[in-house]
This record gives sequence, structure tokens and C-alpha cells, in this order.
Amino acid sequence: MSFTIDLGERTALVTGGGQGVGRAVCLSLAAAGARVLVNDFVPERADEVVKEIEAAGGTAAARPFDVSDYAAVTGAIGADQVDILVNNAGNAGPGGWDVKAPAAGSKGVSVSVGAFATTEPADWDRYFAVNLYGVMNCTRVALPGMIAAGEGRVITIVSDAGRVGEPNMAPYSAAKAGAAGFMRALAREVGGGGITVNNVSLSTVDTMGLEERAREDDQLADRLRRQLKRYMVPRLGRPDDVAGLVTFLASPLAAWITGQTYPVNGGYSVSV
Ligand SMILES: NC(=O)c1ccc[n+]([C@@H]2O[C@H](COP(=O)([O-])OP(=O)(O)OC[C@H]3O[C@@H](n4cnc5c(N)ncnc54)[C@H](O)[C@@H]3O)[C@@H](O)[C@H]2O)c1
Repeated sequence: MSFTIDLGERTALVTGGGQGVGRAVCLSLAAAGARVLVNDFVPERADEVVKEIEAAGGTAAARPFDVSDYAAVTGAIGADQVDILVNNAGNAGPGGWDVKAPAAGSKGVSVSVGAFATTEPADWDRYFAVNLYGVMNCTRVALPGMIAAGEGRVITIVSDAGRVGEPNMAPYSAAKAGAAGFMRALAREVGGGGITVNNVSLSTVDTMGLEERAREDDQLADRLRRQLKRYMVPRLGRPDDVAGLVTFLASPLAAWITGQTYPVNGGYSVSV
């Protein structure tokens, strides 16, 4: 038996597509035949992924912008017909844990902001900017074209931090839960128009080099061992673990699936 996902003729926008989960999603959608618009806050990352896609025979173009800046989103993609929107940019936004050249000793800002009682409103903004407003901005700009076409896919990458809660990550958890709720409301608005809207919820996917660092850091290795005891499949996630489900949800095969949240999490939490 063979199984094919064909996204030919469709254009996909993947936010934060320059690395990690977003990069894997870009490569997967392109392999399924979509033309991929690779967004990233860091233009060089988007350019690299475009080159990778083209080298593999696919079609792509870079669309660098900050998803949290509505005017920038409108300026960059307002003229594009987006058939598939993957809202992936997240974590702590620009300058997050992905920083390639952090200040000495810094690993960048993580999603862990500390005990909520010790935080100030100014600490919360960056999580809402990228994880909630970024999702709303890109969706607002891409949606009219989908409505006009009578077809579309919106897929947002959320987090189990927002589903089941994580200590020290309250602002991030709140922003992700907000994005998931926004998706459910939207699903009800546009389901009659051929547009499906879903969330994919992740537990820890090793986009920050945790396993590599743990080889030289006993404390981190110990922390990971304890963390993985809660996973039914006891390993960290990999970006490719996520790309397959996103590509399926983006396809015609998923035309009757909407308003849902699918965990891709090694069994860290269960959905009933
Ligand atoms: N990695 C995990 O363990 C994990 C767990 C749960 C959920 N998630 C979610 O999955 C998604 C992908 O995570 P990841 O770890 O692959 O990300 P990452 O941090 O490795 O990469 C994100 C990319 O998005 C870009 N980006 C950040 N802010 C942006 C903005 N405002 N506008 C445009 N681009 C921006 C960054 O430059 C970066 O290239 C995020 O939404 C994240 O919150 C990740």
C-alpha cells in the first residue's frame, strides 16, 4: 500500500521557519509539493531554508518579518495568496533560546520566566507578542484570501505548557492557551467555508541542543533523565516528529478535521 500527500498548487506560509520545528515543517510541506513561503525574524535563516528546499527540487521564497508587528506582516504577505498557514514562530520570540551567538554565558531567553509571583507585567509581553498576537496577526492577514478561495488550512503550534500547565512558564502557558482558544473560535467561524483550523501541541522537542549539551553537563543529563520518566516514549521530540502531522493536517485528507488540538508529545500528557 502506498500513501501520498499532494499539496501541489498550494502555497504555504510557515512562520519561524528558519530553524527547529518550523524548518522541518517547511521541508516536509515542500516535499509534498507545496510552494513554501519561509518566514523568520532572522532573514539569513529563511534564506538558508529556501536554498535547502530548492536544492531538493522544491519551490520556496523567503518572507522575513516579525510576526508580532501587524504592519510588517501586512507589508510582507498582504499580496500573497496563502492556502496553508502554519503559525509556528513562538517560544520567547526574537532573542529566545535559539540565539546563535548569545552574550557570554547566556543561552538566550527561555520560556521559563520563573515563579509567577516574582514576575512583572513587562516580563510577560514577549510571550504574548509572538505566541498570541503573532498568531492573530498572520491569521488575520492570510484569512481573507482563504475565504475568497473557499478553501484553506490554519495550523498553530501550541504547547503542552498551555494544555496541562508548567510551573515557571505561566506567561508562555497563558499565551499558548490563548492561541489555542483563538483557533477554536476561528474554526467555528470559517468551517462552513472550507477552511480548517487546528492546533498541534508539543512537549519538549530538542531544538535547543539539550541532548548534545547533556553529554558534557551531568546536571542537565540528570534533569533530562527525570523529565523523560514522564514520557511514554522516553526520548525528547525531534522536529521531524512534528512535520508529518502538520503536513497531514494541511492536506485534503484532513478536510473534515477542525477545531482540534493534537498532542505530539511522546505521551507526556494524554488527550481524551
Ligand atoms: N522546542 C520545544 O520544546 C517546544 C515545546 C512546545 C512548543 N514549542 C513551540 O513550537 C514552535 C517551534 O519551536 P522551536 O523550538 O522549533 O523554535 P525555535 O526557537 O528553535 O525557532 C523559532 C524560529 O522562529 C523565529 N522567530 C522567533 N520569533 C519570531 C518572530 N516574532 N517573528 C518571526 N520569526 C520569529 C526564530 O528566529 C527562530 O528561527 C514554537 O511555537 C514553540 O513555542 C516548542
